[in-house]
Amino acid sequence: MATSNVGLRVDQLTTPAFLVDYAQVKANCNNMLETCNKMGVRLRAQTKTHKTIEGAELQTGGTKKCLVTSTLDESEFYADHGFDDILYGYPLIPFHMPRVTALTKRLEKFHVMVDSRLAVETLLETPPPSPKTWSVFLKVDCGNGRAGVWWEDEEGIELALSLSSASSRITFCGVYVHCGNTYHADDPKDVDVLRDENIERLLKFVERAKMRGVVCPTVGIGSTPSCRRPADTMKKLTELHPGNYAFLDVQQSTLGSCSLEDIACCVATRIIGHYPRRNQMLIDCGFTGLTKQGEGKMPSGYCVIKDHPNLKLCSMTQEIGFVETIKGKLDYAKYPVGTMLFLLPWHSCATAAMYPVYNVIQDGRVTAEWKPTRGW
Ligand SMILES: Cc1ncc(COP(=O)(O)O)c(C=O)c1O
Repeated sequence: MATSNVGLRVDQLTTPAFLVDYAQVKANCNNMLETCNKMGVRLRAQTKTHKTIEGAELQTGGTKKCLVTSTLDESEFYADHGFDDILYGYPLIPFHMPRVTALTKRLEKFHVMVDSRLAVETLLETPPPSPKTWSVFLKVDCGNGRAGVWWEDEEGIELALSLSSASSRITFCGVYVHCGNTYHADDPKDVDVLRDENIERLLKFVERAKMRGVVCPTVGIGSTPSCRRPADTMKKLTELHPGNYAFLDVQQSTLGSCSLEDIACCVATRIIGHYPRRNQMLIDCGFTGLTKQGEGKMPSGYCVIKDHPNLKLCSMTQEIGFVETIKGKLDYAKYPVGTMLFLLPWHSCATAAMYPVYNVIQDGRVTAEWKPTRGW
């Protein structure tokens, strides 16, 4: 039977457990709202990192408006809980249309994202629920190399033309770029170069569209590495759409987005055994409690073990982690069986996805449980 953790001290929690530091997640969310405010751009917060109502309330500063989701399930979840102005930020295919139609009908503003002629034709051929139009963003690829029409290709301008000239069916919202190639940067300076390149390419695309008579009301870009290192050129945009910034993680710290102290989530785990013959100890968090996302990235193995810089999570099976030292012999007296360790994840979106409940911590106690939506 499911019981509530609310009121428990952290050391009373069954491990592994996903912890969210409330003061820190709130500070991270406010920081991004302020960044956007200062630059005069709207924040369309991505919800995929946490997928919770409470997290999205913090991201929107309580307005419950202007989100971008990565699944239809998330879009429906937020619609069910009173959020509006939701962009389903994923390439549209015909199979999505029944759920897209229902969301368009029930929300004041629900937007879809397209990057293909097939998607545009699907929208042109499907009558929107009266009296609505399909509200559509065009996804442009300015270097990320995932979804989106390539910024230099004429195809993108042609799609924008089709979208903006079908006003009885379609409201063309503008252009959307996910500058996720900032994650491939070698260092923070490289993040800045990639951020600037994405912005420059997007503005060039908008200019070319304008020359063909297409106005892009929204010009948006976003990834946490770029938005945590904002540039003045972002003032030329109208919207930013980062997401990971709510929790942050070790990967973000290596990209210059934050320090380890800014990370708002961690996995609590317990030491379950000592193995001096191989200078190791075991913990009760395996790959189903953390993921293997950090593989080969850090001297400390698959994560950073908070306050223990000489420890390394060197290997994991499903429910067990292997911890050793980076240098020297393990001092087992410092780590009795049952001791809790706190793991800072390499990629918080993936680690959060392992947990059906997040323990929200204030002053060492669970003050709330956030229940994320799951599924697609
Ligand atoms: C389409 C899209 N938009 C926005 C974001 C937010 O980027 P980040 O998680 O770097 O903040 C993502 C993240 O993967 C994304 O896929």
